[in-house]
Amino acid sequence: MSTLAGKHVLLGITGGIAAYKLPFLVRLLRAQEAEVRVLMTPAATSFVTPLTLAALSGQPVHHHLVEEEPGQTAWNNHVAHAEWADLMIMAPATANTLAKAVQGLCDNLVMATYLSAKCPILWAPSMDLDMFAHPSTQQNLSTLASWGHVLMASPSGPLASGLHGAGRMAEPEDIASQAIRILCTTPYWKNKTVVLTSGPTQEPLDPIRFVSNGSSGRMGTALARALSAKGASIHWVHGPQQVFEAHLPGVTYYSVKTAKEMHSVVQGLQGESDIFIASAAVADFRPERVFEAKQKKSGGMAATAWVENPDILLHVGQSKKPHQRVLGFALESTWNVEEARAKAARKGADAIVLNQAGDLQGGMHTETNRIALLTQEETYDFPVAHKDAIGEALVHWMESHWNL
Ligand code: C5P
Repeated sequence: MSTLAGKHVLLGITGGIAAYKLPFLVRLLRAQEAEVRVLMTPAATSFVTPLTLAALSGQPVHHHLVEEEPGQTAWNNHVAHAEWADLMIMAPATANTLAKAVQGLCDNLVMATYLSAKCPILWAPSMDLDMFAHPSTQQNLSTLASWGHVLMASPSGPLASGLHGAGRMAEPEDIASQAIRILCTTPYWKNKTVVLTSGPTQEPLDPIRFVSNGSSGRMGTALARALSAKGASIHWVHGPQQVFEAHLPGVTYYSVKTAKEMHSVVQGLQGESDIFIASAAVADFRPERVFEAKQKKSGGMAATAWVENPDILLHVGQSKKPHQRVLGFALESTWNVEEARAKAARKGADAIVLNQAGDLQGGMHTETNRIALLTQEETYDFPVAHKDAIGEALVHWMESHWNL
């Protein structure tokens, strides 16, 4: 993926222990092909070395407003750094840095650049729990938010002091996801709410055993990532899936096990959705009787009748409003375009993604997928690609075909 190709990300590192995680953030941003330039406060250099960050960013790292070279003095142009940036990330942002930012103090290169920057600013605060809870810090955070800056949450957990509580820096993966969302949001997706189902469902036989299928949830996760990157609001209703991504910005998570649970959550959200995407591999049937206790082997395999599960896509498709769109998935044993198209018509889906079970490059159990997207009139063939790329391509397709 090259989500951030051509984007300039300026990283301002200040003096907190979480600075040791910043090399990972640089790697994640570089993996998306962002150009990353690192500035540090003098205090930050005690926690992580400029050399490490220069090696990973591929650019010189600056930590003084004026740099003394043998025989010459170089002025670091904070205005030029600020103008270069499409996004400035302040991480870890100490209580001291937050206070300086609110007051407009600029006694180091990071703060002088911050004060000159006109690009979006993303803060990842990090400090001990009492400093974080202090009214002055909380007020500073509210002030920055009121200026339109984006603030990462500071989750609870073990702190360097040995205490436990809120104030940890958000993980580099989560900061990177938020950075991608800030830089890649489109006006189309910014105003869209998407309800997404994914993964398998589990239909219990007894408290231990269940009937399910081999869906990994990879395609749904790819869609959630791609939609989050583009700025959509996503309600992600997911079964117990192996491939998953927590903490995606813009995503509200709903964890379900059975088809009935998935159906009832989707029903509650249906009114809010502009687009419903049904990528879940919902179990079509559930055992009629669920035993209260674990069934003993000695009793033999109990016979059970099977009850049909609600068809979530069918219900949403048939009751959708004119301004709503619905995308379904059809995983078939054979590449049968007409059958998939008929399924879309029957279930009220505006489009359906055909993929094939047993395809070595697509369907379940694979990292790649081979798909065709079908409307009632058109067939769009997509080249075989990683499921993340397919997710991005589908999001792009919806943006360019559904004029909502
Ligand atoms: O009928 P089939 O299972 O092949 O349909 C696949 C499509 O229908 C997928 O989009 C799937 O998420 C959705 N579906 C559903 N509820 C069901 C069965 C399938 O939403 N009970």
